[in-house]
Amino acid sequence: MKGGEKFVLAAIGVLLIFGVIRNFMHVDEPHETEIPFYTTASTEMARKATDIYRANTCRSCHSLWSMKDVMQSVPAPMMDGVGSLRTEAWLYDYLSSPNPQSILPSRLKKKYQMPSYASLPEGDRRILANYLASLKVKDWYLDQTKKEEQEKLTGVDSSK
Ligand code: HEC
Repeated sequence: MKGGEKFVLAAIGVLLIFGVIRNFMHVDEPHETEIPFYTTASTEMARKATDIYRANTCRSCHSLWSMKDVMQSVPAPMMDGVGSLRTEAWLYDYLSSPNPQSILPSRLKKKYQMPSYASLPEGDRRILANYLASLKVKDWYLDQTKKEEQEKLTGVDSSK
């Protein structure tokens, strides 16, 4: 083998090894293991909102931080990342509506649909709306999946 050929082979070898290491470390897919959901709420706000959320059995239908009552199987949209799709004002109106399906149409059976929380004290609805609006999802994940999920469940293109 000539000197030049040896050099080319060595260079290819080095590139291959780097390729393997790169793959192994998922340098090309930094998102794969990253959790895409986060909140911008203060600990205090999160605590207050979570109490109201629990007391009103929201989690018997919705999952939040990937948690849901295991006994329930309502196909409701997850709350993680909802603040990247909806504004606080929208969320407040939705929770305050006597008929949430007039805002967001539903394909589900009545018993699975979003109930009206219009009778909840205004302060509670404000805290819920504020907290839900703080639940964000990173853009790359939103693009991938959240919109599809919303459309599938509600039949509505949430980007409009
Ligand atoms: C009986 C099951 C059920 C309960 C309980 C429930 N939801 Fe829902 N919710 C749904 C369903 C299903 C939808 C999708 C719209 C529909 O089908 O009516 C929905 C939609 C929503 C949306 C709109 C999501 C979007 O697409 O932007 C929000 C926000 C929401 N719920 C918050 C809450 C909160 C907060 C509570 C508790 C106070 C709660 N839900 C309780 C079933 C439920």
